[in-house]
Amino acid sequence: MSMKLPFFKNKQIKVLKNTELSKVPHHLAIIMDGNGRWAKKRGLPRIAGHKAAMDVVQNTVRTAIKYDIKILTLFTFSTENWKRPRPEVDFLMKLPKEFLHVYLPELIENNVRIETIGDFEGLPEGTKKVINHAKEKTRNNDGLLLNFAINYGGRFEIMKAVKQLAADIENKELQADAVDESVFSRYLFTNGLPDPDLLIRTSGEQRLSNFLLWQLAYSEFWFTDTLWPDFNETIFYQALVEYDQRIRRYGGL
Ligand code: IPE
Ligand code: IPE
Ligand code: MG
Repeated sequence: MSMKLPFFKNKQIKVLKNTELSKVPHHLAIIMDGNGRWAKKRGLPRIAGHKAAMDVVQNTVRTAIKYDIKILTLFTFSTENWKRPRPEVDFLMKLPKEFLHVYLPELIENNVRIETIGDFEGLPEGTKKVINHAKEKTRNNDGLLLNFAINYGGRFEIMKAVKQLAADIENKELQADAVDESVFSRYLFTNGLPDPDLLIRTSGEQRLSNFLLWQLAYSEFWFTDTLWPDFNETIFYQALVEYDQRIRRYGGL
């Protein structure tokens, strides 16, 4: 006699009503750091940390939906991460496929839209293909915007914007004296997105590592020693509570 496996339908995640929070970040950005150290602590190869990181990404998405965060930008691979040993880079480039294979149905079910920022053309064909498929499948969703920064570097982004801007001025599509902050920011990968309200970095490092240099000008920063594979809803909530208590002045009084 064969046993039938129960059929689990993907869970629809509900937005929490009546939280203690008076405000939540509209746009949250996260530098998900510490995978390698997490693995090393367990006597495992670094890639075991990257593998464990995927479920944490999905749990973070679920929590973001629960707290009604509208945009979640996750730093997954920097323009500097190509310096790592080839096997690690190859492994990282295969993760989008694994992640989407497992979680795309749940993301679709939850009305999540997938986007990327970064030098997309510089990614391997196979990586581009699975990501494009996910973007296409979620194009019309209007729930959480899940924005993966992949092959992303803040300086690269700014240089690219400057070059395009200069070209547009040369072609007379734009007048030099019409350039202001809002015009310039349309040339960035984040074109059209509001700046992050909160940046979280895990693993104890307190630096930007070339992440969103322009966009983080007035964001709140929150650091935790927790390594990314250990990040969870309790720690996430702690960040939200502290964000709630911050007073943002933007240079005013
Ligand atoms: C973050 O974890 C993931 C990526 C940068 C791809 P790390 O791989 O940087 O882990 P640590 O910082 O070496 O522990
Ligand atoms: C930043 O982490 C990039 C990502 C999390 C994807 P790194 O581990 O590359 O940063 P550094 O080298 O410690 O500054
Ligand atoms: Mg690191």
